[in-house]
Amino acid sequence: MKIEEVKSTTRTQRVATHSHIKGLGLNDDFTAKEISHGLCGQEKAREAAGIVVDLIKSKKMAGKALLLAGAPGTGKTAIALAVAQEIGSQVPFCPMVGSEVYSTEVKKTEILMENFRRAIGIRIKETKEVWEGEVTEITPEEKEDPHDGYGKVVEGVILSLKTTKGSKQLRLDPSVYENMQKEKITVGDVIYIEATSGAVKRVGRSDAYAAEYDLEAEEYVPIPKGDVHKKKEVVQDVTLHDLDVANAKPQGGQDFFSLMNQVNRQKKTEITEKLRLEINKVVNKYIDHGIAELVPGVLFIDEVHMLDIECFTYLNRALESNLAPIVIFATNRGKCTIRGTEMKSPHGVPVDLLDRLLIIKTLPYSINEIVQILSIRCSTENIEIDEDALAHLAAIGTKTSLRYAVQLISPSNILAETDGREKINKEDIDEVNSLFFDAKSSAKILQEQADKFIS
Ligand SMILES: Nc1ncnc2c1ncn2[C@@H]1O[C@H](COP(=O)(O)OP(=O)(O)OP(=O)(O)O)[C@@H](O)[C@H]1O
Ligand SMILES: [Mg+2]
Repeated sequence: MKIEEVKSTTRTQRVATHSHIKGLGLNDDFTAKEISHGLCGQEKAREAAGIVVDLIKSKKMAGKALLLAGAPGTGKTAIALAVAQEIGSQVPFCPMVGSEVYSTEVKKTEILMENFRRAIGIRIKETKEVWEGEVTEITPEEKEDPHDGYGKVVEGVILSLKTTKGSKQLRLDPSVYENMQKEKITVGDVIYIEATSGAVKRVGRSDAYAAEYDLEAEEYVPIPKGDVHKKKEVVQDVTLHDLDVANAKPQGGQDFFSLMNQVNRQKKTEITEKLRLEINKVVNKYIDHGIAELVPGVLFIDEVHMLDIECFTYLNRALESNLAPIVIFATNRGKCTIRGTEMKSPHGVPVDLLDRLLIIKTLPYSINEIVQILSIRCSTENIEIDEDALAHLAAIGTKTSLRYAVQLISPSNILAETDGREKINKEDIDEVNSLFFDAKSSAKILQEQADKFIS
């Protein structure tokens, strides 16, 4: 199994509507602070989520599942993202939306499986034989190219590494020189080279060079202690999915047709069930030997009512596997039909799955909480608003929805700016509110003027 060169496949995300959320904002005893970390109100749900975070951190929650249920705009997605922030970057968090499973190319359960495996972390601790030190010399050795009378090829590299104990000159393979060039190693860097694979890792810049220039981006590290040649404990965090991808081979056998297929498919790799079982076996062995540690992460499935009965039966089974993450579902549906069946069920989720879940309820916001959330949004968007306008906007929010009120902030700011004012006032809000419609009033107009529209 390849571990050295596993690239992380964690998705990066930028969710603008939730960018003010920095955590759950709880006290040490799990009680919610009124306003903290960008969240306010919804105390019960936040406290429950806090307990779940604690369970996750103490690794007591693998294979368990949670459902956030509540009306639209009551902060379900926000709380799930706060959970992600709380558990930190060491624990994998994989967000997805129920409808992501529908694809014409890939089976639904395949997509679920992939996301399950993205949410399970493995921390691998290995003691490796390395050469470590500050680079004091890099000299490539060249010789004439036997295939080309004029060119030269690199035959090896002479590298000097310095530690507090002394320095050592090494003659290394050209492949190591290539690796060093890829990592952009220069004299003055602290690096280590793995003896078995020849992989080169840059630890940082030696602090002897710290005064050279004052670059903030540079990380200065002390010159390593001990011998240049030594055993070093290397810790790597990967997910099961990272391991799958790294070990998947391009599809097809050796014959001509499969070769053609490969050309057409442009190196598409396939992760088979067999490969996954193989990887599970190796991982389990590593865990038994104490080399690796299982870090169950979080799989967040938003809009879970979009899943169909096939997915649900699959989830029932997947949750019982011994390599399962914590699954958090969210939905805003009440009683509705389960996709792919005629059956009705609470939240559009079959009762046998519901039975396995802990359910957290989110409640509609009071006017005061809406005022708070709106003012948090204004400050994250760097927009100033006067008190009257804020109260007025919150009042609109209670009549329409929190989301609608949040969306009026930026257009109102544009009006204020064109008027040369720095603060949004009540008139801006009123004008924007008269220009746009919220969902409820739009529906009302449609009903009143039903005869004028094509139906
Ligand atoms: N308690 C809160 N504190 C601060 N901001 C909040 C809070 N609750 C919700 N918000 C913000 O309000 C907006 C709507 O909330 P969110 O998207 O989480 O609702 P939801 O419950 O997921 O709704 P839906 O069911 O429609 O998906 C978001 O911008 C969110 O960040
Ligand atoms: Mg949501």
